[in-house]
Amino acid sequence: KHKVIFDTDPGVDDAMALYFALAHPDIDVVGITTSFGNVHVEQATANALYLTRITGRDIPVAQGVPVPFAKEPGTPPDFIHGADGLGNLNSRIELGGKAEVESAAEFIVKMARQYPGEITLVAVAPLGNLGLALKMEPQLPKLLKQVVLMAGTVDEPGNVSPVAEANVWNDPDAADLVFTAGWDLTMVGLDVTHRVVLPSTFFARLAEQHKHVAMDTLSHAVNFYANFYQSIRPDLGHACYGHDVLAFVWLVAPEMFETNSGRVRVAKEGIGNGQTMMAKLPIPYPQSGWEASKPETRVCMKVDAEACKQLIDKTLSSNWLQ
Ligand code: BDR
Ligand code: CA
Repeated sequence: KHKVIFDTDPGVDDAMALYFALAHPDIDVVGITTSFGNVHVEQATANALYLTRITGRDIPVAQGVPVPFAKEPGTPPDFIHGADGLGNLNSRIELGGKAEVESAAEFIVKMARQYPGEITLVAVAPLGNLGLALKMEPQLPKLLKQVVLMAGTVDEPGNVSPVAEANVWNDPDAADLVFTAGWDLTMVGLDVTHRVVLPSTFFARLAEQHKHVAMDTLSHAVNFYANFYQSIRPDLGHACYGHDVLAFVWLVAPEMFETNSGRVRVAKEGIGNGQTMMAKLPIPYPQSGWEASKPETRVCMKVDAEACKQLIDKTLSSNWLQ
């Protein structure tokens, strides 16, 4: 079973990813860390607590960074994931639950030291928590088993600029730290997440089947997210991209993906700000600022979208909600 810390900014596709992870028999979510991104970090924390508690699970949630490392903080847009990050829920059940006293970075370091070589970090938000954890514990790349990111893009156009994906764009400095740290690193970016289109009816059916408030919440959130996608991509129908859930699909079913390996760096300013650039090793340009050697990132370039959808369906329709 993969022991996972989930770093997230819920977020509709984050919620989808979380529920996939909770439902999948090979994944054990041992903690959640939150970041600013789709919403302010306090809202991300409230959402992580809410989404877990309505499934009856008491997973620790540690709050993380409120702003990027270096760039000017922006205001999260309210028309993609809703002002509350979950498609503007009409009401929330009073469930209680509090975040841990330690910060996200402290939590990551604590768990990595407690379970050396065992923890997989799945990060689907701006990467400040991982960046900070690295600064606190330089041995972190050895202490974690692996890191899987929903971040970046190579060939596919960006989603916040022609070349930048949102999680990287939101904190390019933290992202570059993460890409150069030297862990076992996999990037699940837009090259594959834009291939997996999930209709809102897919979630409506799951909600109908489960008759549980958690799936109702997810289906409501996906509806809102699909309205946004319909406004920019009417050709998709009423649907959304799977984005964050694909990081977990890679974890449990890597055979559904084709990957390339290379050195990934992030542009931190100018017209290419937030771009993830991949270079094949070795890099024969000593003056270029690209180190010639490892670490490499495994970058997902292709996915079997149909198999992926079937796995998401099978996992979420299993008997995981009491
Ligand atoms: C990523 O950005 C966020 O809006 C989504 O939750 C996902 O993590 C997609 O670019
Ligand atoms: Ca996210």
